[in-house]
Amino acid sequence: MPLLIDGKATAAQIKSEIAQEVATLVAEGRKRPHLAAVLVGNDGGSETYVKNKVLACEACGFESTLIRFEDTVSETELLAKIDELNRDENIDGFIVQLPLPRHIDTDKVIEAIDHRKDVDGFHPINVGRLAIGLPCFISATPLGILTLLRRYGIETAGKHCVVVGRSNIVGKPMVQLMLQKEHGNATVTCIHSYTQDVAAECRKADILIAAIGRPGYITADMVKPGATVIDVGTTRVPDNSRPSGFRLSGDVDFNTVAPIAGAITPVPGGVGPMTICMLMLNTLAAGKKTYYR
Ligand code: GUN
Repeated sequence: MPLLIDGKATAAQIKSEIAQEVATLVAEGRKRPHLAAVLVGNDGGSETYVKNKVLACEACGFESTLIRFEDTVSETELLAKIDELNRDENIDGFIVQLPLPRHIDTDKVIEAIDHRKDVDGFHPINVGRLAIGLPCFISATPLGILTLLRRYGIETAGKHCVVVGRSNIVGKPMVQLMLQKEHGNATVTCIHSYTQDVAAECRKADILIAAIGRPGYITADMVKPGATVIDVGTTRVPDNSRPSGFRLSGDVDFNTVAPIAGAITPVPGGVGPMTICMLMLNTLAAGKKTYYR
């Protein structure tokens, strides 16, 4: 069987490292990092993510503030809150949980966030700085994946990395991160809905990263024996045997792919916990003013 990449344990380890660093900061008389999260509406997935972000802040010794709006909130009201958070010196970084209701322009909201507080790394300034290799906040899921590869000693330099999916928050920044000389330093292919012969492209991968949100999409015939397989998928599929009524399903058909992979992330317990953990690392950097004064 392959090496099982344990994101839950790695995230717990990193959060305890962050908590130690925060304890040192506070002992030196410096401020605790403070993250604010803006949640619009009552989407079940978003509620869970934001709750887990607040809990992670507690584990790291950060301050956190949750700001809730009804899903009827106007774009103007939301932009006014963002302006307030941008100016609030007590807030080091903040996020606006996505997706937003359809009547709100998500791009406009993201652009309204001060890039120096954009711990999600979604602002065009952070996206652009990542692309040209300048210090910046990096989107948490791609950063979590690179961190897992590093901590498990999986070589990326000179390897062939195939990213399946081209979303702004995972696929595209993952491509950039794996491409950068100072990060992944890999040869990178990005697969999308217009790619011809997806299976043949995927089989070239030493590192295959699936981020399309289609349960079980990656099957054994698409994987080179010994490859590292990273599963970003977390689709909720109905499951009446669970108290919640659903389970999380990855983009990789784990049972058939695991026997031929060299290393693989499970769902849940793989990439998911690392995403929140990297948001904490970005918040620590925001508190310390590591990237921007
Ligand atoms: N929705 C899904 N993932 C994310 C994320 O990483 N940040 C925010 N703000 N919203 C999300």
